Amino acid sequence: MNGFLRSACLMTAVLLIPALGAAAPPVDSCRDCHKDERFRVQNKKIYDYYQDWSGSAHDRAGLSCTDCHGGDKAQAEQAAAHAGILPQSDPQSPFHYKNIPRTCGRCHDAVLQRFVKSRHYAQLESAGRGPSCITCHGALDTKVYSSSIIERACAGCHNAKTKNRPEVIAQAKEILERLNHANGYRRGLKFYYESVGKPQAMKKADASYDDIVLFWHEFDFKRLPPRSQELLAELKALYNAAHKDRKGP
Ligand code: HEC
Ligand code: HEC
Ligand code: HEC
Ligand code: HEC
Ligand code: HEC
Repeated sequence: MNGFLRSACLMTAVLLIPALGAAAPPVDSCRDCHKDERFRVQNKKIYDYYQDWSGSAHDRAGLSCTDCHGGDKAQAEQAAAHAGILPQSDPQSPFHYKNIPRTCGRCHDAVLQRFVKSRHYAQLESAGRGPSCITCHGALDTKVYSSSIIERACAGCHNAKTKNRPEVIAQAKEILERLNHANGYRRGLKFYYESVGKPQAMKKADASYDDIVLFWHEFDFKRLPPRSQELLAELKALYNAAHKDRKGP
């Protein structure tokens, strides 16, 4: 049987099974129910959570609600679907504020390993005053910060009133601008190496860049400025070298 026929038969079989058996379990009851427009008036909070999630980086990456919350998305009824989901106030909940770094770290372990070295993490553990992953990245509308919106993520705690290092905001902006600049060279390099059929040549530039994003999460603002300068110089040199090669002797 050729490939086309085989897949045509498979498709027929898949379409027939639910029709012959009992009602098919929902593929994703969390989404089906939570996205319901009736929540716009009945439960604004639930409605907003879904709107935030929809189209987020995690949604685009194919995650489902159960990847973070647990529960059973094959159950259509609310109570059965919610089985095992604890309220956030429960210390066992994956979203109790102290557990959030570990919940995110299940998939972002390399970031977590750096974050636990930071004063932010120490403050979160000891005083409950430090930022967790979602303070900076948002819970459902996961954002990556650029220098222009960094203030929102930091100014709640670092400002003249709290007297807690208000200067870190300007420093963070400067570092992020440098990272964005370096990322521009990285994108240019990627475009070049893809156009000459050597995408593997990107390895070094990618590794250097990824390493800085990880290091960022230690919040070591003594070492981060010089390291971001080194990264920028490195990527600029790689970019210029690649373009010299292109022109040839
Ligand atoms: C049939 C509808 C329905 C289904 C199916 C459903 N939910 Fe819900 N969910 C709700 C409603 C309504 C609320 C608001 C509860 C309230 O305000 O008391 C809610 C609340 C929540 C909350 C907030 C905490 C809580 O318990 O109030 C979370 C987290 C949640 N749902 C996750 C999920 C996940 C994950 C799934 C799939 C495994 C899911 N839901 C399936 C209707 C549903
Ligand atoms: C990447 C992990 C992640 C995924 C995937 C995720 N959530 Fe959440 N969700 C969170 C976090 C973190 C919070 C805590 C928010 C806070 O503390 O403000 C949360 C909170 C919630 C709440 C409010 C909880 C409460 O107790 O009031 C609801 C409702 C909710 N999520 C529904 C969903 C639904 C529905 C989906 C799928 C469409 C989903 N979440 C997917 C991480 C996630
Ligand atoms: C079940 C696995 C999983 C969990 C749990 C998870 N993530 Fe992600 N996350 C991903 C994947 C997959 C991507 C998209 C690919 C990538 O950029 O690595 C992603 C991307 C991201 C990005 C980059 C977004 C972008 O636009 O580039 C951030 C920031 C992020 N996650 C933060 C979080 C935070 C904060 C939590 C905890 C609330 C969390 N993640 C929990 C899997 C996960
Ligand atoms: C105090 C704020 C802050 C905290 C806390 C924080 N991050 Fe970040 N995170 C950032 C900033 C700023 C960046 C750099 C954005 C960039 O790459 O331009 C970043 C980058 C990332 C990225 C890479 C995004 C990309 O694709 O470039 C991921 C993934 C991520 N963080 C996950 C996490 C996780 C998981 C935690 C908790 C363990 C966490 N972050 C805690 C501010 C924070
Ligand atoms: C929820 C509150 C909170 C948020 C939000 C927050 N911080 Fe902090 N930050 C703290 C606390 C608390 C300390 C510890 C102060 C001390 O040492 O007593 C701290 C310390 C720091 C330090 C010093 C670290 C060291 O090792 O000395 C830097 C740098 C820093 N924060 C940068 C940032 C940046 C940049 C952002 C935004 C992306 C941010 N913080 C967001 C609460 C916060």
